[in-house]
Amino acid sequence: MKVAIASDHGGITIRKEIISLLEEMKVEYVDLGCECDTSVDYPDYALPVAEKVVKGEVDRGILVCGTGIGMSIAANKVKGIRCALVHDTFSAKATREHNNTNILAMGERVIGPGLAREIVRIWLNTPFEGGRHEKRINKITSYELIHD
Ligand code: RB5
Repeated sequence: MKVAIASDHGGITIRKEIISLLEEMKVEYVDLGCECDTSVDYPDYALPVAEKVVKGEVDRGILVCGTGIGMSIAANKVKGIRCALVHDTFSAKATREHNNTNILAMGERVIGPGLAREIVRIWLNTPFEGGRHEKRINKITSYELIHD
């Protein structure tokens, strides 16, 4: 498992927290920033992470901004990305089991570091259930291919 992680200026603290979790979990990662004191634009960080996932350079992505909303909107514009904005452990598990999400987005102004760590731990460890959920995801993929 290899993960790409990034944040804008609004998500630096949680990003650093998640990086230390990935190190504890011995999960390989690539940190795409930001290294910023000033305001930056979240698409400049979400899109490179999403590109790495669809190109197969990493297995999953993790994005953090103030709300997680901008990051998730931007990431989901990239074909093949299924990014979920998650702020609770129930959804962290469900979105892997049902949606086979390949990017997780969180908001640092919404949740604290302890919950963020738990969400990431669950999200990384939960497998996709397949079955009836596969058929639903295939409908999204077909839509992407038709509207290329
Ligand atoms: C930055 O102020 C903020 O807009 C950004 O971190 C994020 O919340 C956008 O969705």
